[in-house]
Amino acid sequence: MSNTRLSEEQLNSIRSSVDIVDVISDYVQLKKQGRNYFGLCPFHGENTPSFSVSADKQIFHCFGCGAGGNVFTFLMDIEGYSFLEAAKDLAERGNIALDIQSPDTASQSPQQSASKKMIEAHELLTKFYHHLLANTKEGEPALHYLQERGFSKESIEKFSIGYSLNSWDFVQTFLGKRGFDDDILDQSGIIVSRDDGKRFDRFRNRVMFPIKDHHGDVVAFSGRALGNDEPKYLNSPETAIFNKSKLLFNFHQARAAIRKKQQAVLFEGFADVISSAEAGVDNGVATMGTSLTEEHLSILKRNCEEVLICYDSDNAGFEAANRAAEMIVKSGLTVKVAIMPDGLDPDEYIKKYGANSFMHDVIGDSHTYLSFKMKYLRKGRNMKNEGDRISYIEEVLKEIAKLPNAVEREHYLRQISSEFSLSMDALTEQQKTIFRSEKKRGNLPQTNHRNQVSGLALQYTQQKLHPAHINAELKLLAHMMQDKETAYKIRSLMDGNPFHIDEHQAIVTYLFGFYEENEESDISLFLSYIPDKQLRKVVSQIQMMSVSSEPSDQELKDYVGAVLKQQKMLKIKEKQDNQAEAIRMGDHILAAKIGLEIIQMKSQ
Ligand code: UTP
Ligand code: MN
Repeated sequence: MSNTRLSEEQLNSIRSSVDIVDVISDYVQLKKQGRNYFGLCPFHGENTPSFSVSADKQIFHCFGCGAGGNVFTFLMDIEGYSFLEAAKDLAERGNIALDIQSPDTASQSPQQSASKKMIEAHELLTKFYHHLLANTKEGEPALHYLQERGFSKESIEKFSIGYSLNSWDFVQTFLGKRGFDDDILDQSGIIVSRDDGKRFDRFRNRVMFPIKDHHGDVVAFSGRALGNDEPKYLNSPETAIFNKSKLLFNFHQARAAIRKKQQAVLFEGFADVISSAEAGVDNGVATMGTSLTEEHLSILKRNCEEVLICYDSDNAGFEAANRAAEMIVKSGLTVKVAIMPDGLDPDEYIKKYGANSFMHDVIGDSHTYLSFKMKYLRKGRNMKNEGDRISYIEEVLKEIAKLPNAVEREHYLRQISSEFSLSMDALTEQQKTIFRSEKKRGNLPQTNHRNQVSGLALQYTQQKLHPAHINAELKLLAHMMQDKETAYKIRSLMDGNPFHIDEHQAIVTYLFGFYEENEESDISLFLSYIPDKQLRKVVSQIQMMSVSSEPSDQELKDYVGAVLKQQKMLKIKEKQDNQAEAIRMGDHILAAKIGLEIIQMKSQ
């Protein structure tokens, strides 16, 4: 971090133009609790929030995994940015014009600069494909195809849809001329490189859909055949920049709406995302032809509380919706399932019945998880047959037992009770028995604690349970970081004695270095000054402890006393060991001498 080429002035204007709470809110759903904000830590998997952000101090800290730092180190950790990249990103957010030379390629790893080149190629190609579609004669049939399907001009612009020429080498030449190495083009999947050495454009005569990652960079393409060519959709292969199991189509554009509505609408096909966006769904995303993964889920979980599944209504779609719904419920998110008639997919439904009906009758009338499950469980069962009916009721009771909410459980039990003329008592009894046995087998979903701040985290913020002398060191460090004058006062009280914990002593050393260069205390800035990640963790943790803002001299003396006392105790312990050794060796004079020293030390 020291090889920064930003002036202090630039750094300060960036720092004052952004709020760490806003920046982190892009990644973590934060809830205010007392003076700080809490959320689920993005750096380790958890179900109870132990990740905290202090707006006053402009720092973050996770009580679970220890991650901590300021807004710069947050972006560096989560995005893998260098310090300059983080600064650039923040400057953009804060609308600060930054005049820094692009970071020298030497400071980037070869993989980082290759990835950057690959993205550049994709971005350039997106513009080129779009131009071909919108403005050229060659693109006319593709444009016509899209219009036939009902894609509006706005959608074509918004999703940068394009067209790839019916040529084996146009793209290769086009990008080659612009300085992209063969190697980069092969790695990015834009060019297919065969074992026999032949190289050719992957996408030919297709409608081109750019696939953006979660930062909005184009990292892949999916090309749709205009007619019935196979495959219907040709996708970029997995590359260093394109990972299907982590990417959700349109997440970048939908993120704000997802967070605002606390809901994401999940589609099977990205064409559905585009059509439904036009119909008014601004929080829609889609997996890229893969089934939902745990990684997708954890992204959604960081951003909303509910996922509305809107898959194709054919058999495969119904099965896939069931699998996705189970995964989502298990993760602790709420699930809803929208069901369309006649084996349609969302895109076809909108075309057939219109946007209004889609928003109202499909999205607006989606099923709860249980009501979907009941529909699902009926499939393949003949309700006139008693055996089928009983097994159906059993399965439904199993699902009801998973519901955390008593009112909901009662609602569905009543539904079953009236449909099958069974007594509520009997059903409730049976449901409880199932609950107990499912619990034993660990089949119940995780309860979602995202809105409760864990008692543990709060306890940590108050005070961690440490031996007195370590606690005293932590308090002293907190005061030293909070105020420069206090820091010097404590230094003279410590009278040249070091802190017990090496990390604490290292922080003190950095702190005085910092105070030599800076007029006053500034935790967030101090964090940028510490090169060591582990030390930053400790600093952010200490900062999350509350200490009085103006400690009395007596308070400081007491803490210093506790630290020094422990040191004396250690020295006495050492002497006692020496004394025992002397006795064992038969040197009674030495033993007596040491004994005297011990008495003197104890009396001090
Ligand atoms: P669908 O076959 O449901 O596509 O595949 P769709 O959205 O209805 O497309 P249109 O309306 O016919 O144009 C759903 C998803 O599966 C992946 C794509 O990501 C698609 O969005 N897929 C499908 C492929 O990757 N390759 C294919 O050949 C087909
Ligand atoms: Mn379709």
